[in-house]
Amino acid sequence: MSLAQSPLLSVYKKQTPTRRPIWFMRQAGRYLPEYREIRAKNSMLKTIQTPKLAAEVTLQPLRRFDFDGAIIFADILNPLIGMGINLDFVEKEGPKIFNPIQFPADVSALKIPDPTQSVPYTLEAISLVASELNPKGIPVLGFCGAPFTLASYMIEGGGSHSLTKLKRFMFSEKDAWNDLQGKLVEYLVRYLLAQVQAGASAVQVFDTWVGYVSPDQFAKYVQPSLDLLVKEFKQYSDVPIIYFSTSSRGLFPQISKLPFDVFSIDWRMKLTDAASLSVDKPLQGNLDPEALAAPKEILKEEIQSVLNDAKGIPHHVFNLGHGILPHLTPESVSFAIDCVRSMDSR
Ligand code: CP3
Repeated sequence: MSLAQSPLLSVYKKQTPTRRPIWFMRQAGRYLPEYREIRAKNSMLKTIQTPKLAAEVTLQPLRRFDFDGAIIFADILNPLIGMGINLDFVEKEGPKIFNPIQFPADVSALKIPDPTQSVPYTLEAISLVASELNPKGIPVLGFCGAPFTLASYMIEGGGSHSLTKLKRFMFSEKDAWNDLQGKLVEYLVRYLLAQVQAGASAVQVFDTWVGYVSPDQFAKYVQPSLDLLVKEFKQYSDVPIIYFSTSSRGLFPQISKLPFDVFSIDWRMKLTDAASLSVDKPLQGNLDPEALAAPKEILKEEIQSVLNDAKGIPHHVFNLGHGILPHLTPESVSFAIDCVRSMDSR
């Protein structure tokens, strides 16, 4: 099979796929013993920054499961190191930024690096994975964080459940906020294009924390940078660009008008509601990852309800509403994939 017949790329390009494509966010990760084995000997950053390791980890789930795509192993945060952000992934705590942005001068000091200098390892890992998978007709997905979600880590210094510091900065330092968003957009566009050049056949923008803003705040502080990011990307590439957001039901009337090609949604919103707003754009989602830990009968019901909602949607990619978590099992993932395939063929 060649990439031209890839069911995933067919759906992203609004063509008719040979079957409903499936991939899962965080399909490479701690729920896989072979991933934990690599991570036991290598830190998160070392795994990301060593092309062979990143490629190996990306390929692990493809060896076990019948997925229709591979997302390159990296994180949304490591590219920020090249801008001057010092960070690490702390065991059991998550990402930590040691020099968070506090003042406008901190934004002025941020660099906009050339991705071939700042993230050569991810580009090389993409080439390695693409050369192995593309001949089998399996595409590689590149990705980046969205400007808002990245700003939240840069300002909060790590994960936050209130975004208090981010809101304070966003409200009181309008010029610096715009400058920060502008710098991120410029860098992210270059980063996504470099990933495409390295062999990515689609790219996904992760906006995990966007659900923290009101619709009016979205219009003022978030939407302009997303609009610009997609428009600039599309000037140089026609590769499909996907927008993933969570807890974003109240924002979806606005999100659905953004120039992204595909929208990936979480389980808090029905696919049918997203479809009524995004009209004929392909949709991706939206099984609750916790359903993978449910008794098999319930997991089947949860999958059936996603497929029922997807019935009237001409272009649908089966995915989770968020990433696979470490407490889930490889068995539940393969059971879920089998369920989707068999329910579809009935
Ligand atoms: O989807 C994939 O398989 C590709 C790899 C990928 C990772 N992170 C690997 C990772 C992707 C696409 C991401 C995106 C990411 N990273 C997001 C957006 C999507 C989302 O999940 O909301 C966010 C917000 C981050 C930031 C981040 N990275 C957090 C909050 C954490 C800690 C939480 C956790 O799961 O441990 C990470 C670490 C991280 N990124 C891990 C992985 C596999 C776990 C690292 C480990 O201990 O092995």
